Amino acid sequence: MKKIIITIDGYSSCGKSTLAKQLAKQLDYTYIDSGAMYRAITLYFIQNRVDWVSHEAVKSALLDVHLDFVPNSLTGECEMFLNGENVEHLIREMLIAEKVSEVSTVKEVRDFAVAQQKKMGTRKGIVMDGRDIGTVVFPHAELKIFMTADIAIRVERRFKELYVKNKNITIEEVKQNLELRDYIDANREISPLRKADDAIILDNSQLGMEDQQSLVMQWVEDAIMAH
Ligand code: DC
Repeated sequence: MKKIIITIDGYSSCGKSTLAKQLAKQLDYTYIDSGAMYRAITLYFIQNRVDWVSHEAVKSALLDVHLDFVPNSLTGECEMFLNGENVEHLIREMLIAEKVSEVSTVKEVRDFAVAQQKKMGTRKGIVMDGRDIGTVVFPHAELKIFMTADIAIRVERRFKELYVKNKNITIEEVKQNLELRDYIDANREISPLRKADDAIILDNSQLGMEDQQSLVMQWVEDAIMAH
């Protein structure tokens, strides 16, 4: 069957990565979590005390940042490696979530990440999720999805995920972080989060996992037929 590029953009914690992983598995495509790249860069900047307000400091620091997606030998899912080290767990910490949107506004950081993401799309059979994938990274993707869900539902989902790892986390903290990230992501100057004109909106506030999956698989089939 013909392979296509599928982009999934949307607000934080809408379930983009869950959907992207399911699609990749079902279609035997590669899933690329573009947010993991921004998170790994943020981790590097924090670890190395890089002042991301300074363009010069960012430019020189990025020369030492090497990002790789390496498939986990058990699950087959790609994990983020920063300079040869598996940072998949570290980049999911709240400390990174608190800074990543800010770091993602920096032009040099975006140019660095987007150039690598575009290269990954030279072969089809890709599902990539993020904020600017349908608008900037793959403006010609065959299927673009823009995901959204009620903030209360997103907060609850994210809280449950984080609480497993950190029992001190509060709902209020998670809500503030999500709202702030949505605000920065949607209002930044360079490639802000917005729906591509030809993207299909998927509001999964009231949609069960199975219904979502079959709805999107129908869109995939339609997109393959149309191209
Ligand atoms: O998808 P995520 O929540 O892991 O993304 C973390 C942050 O990275 C998000 O708040 C904004 C930034 N990001 C971005 O600016 N562009 C992307 N394509 C993906 C993520």
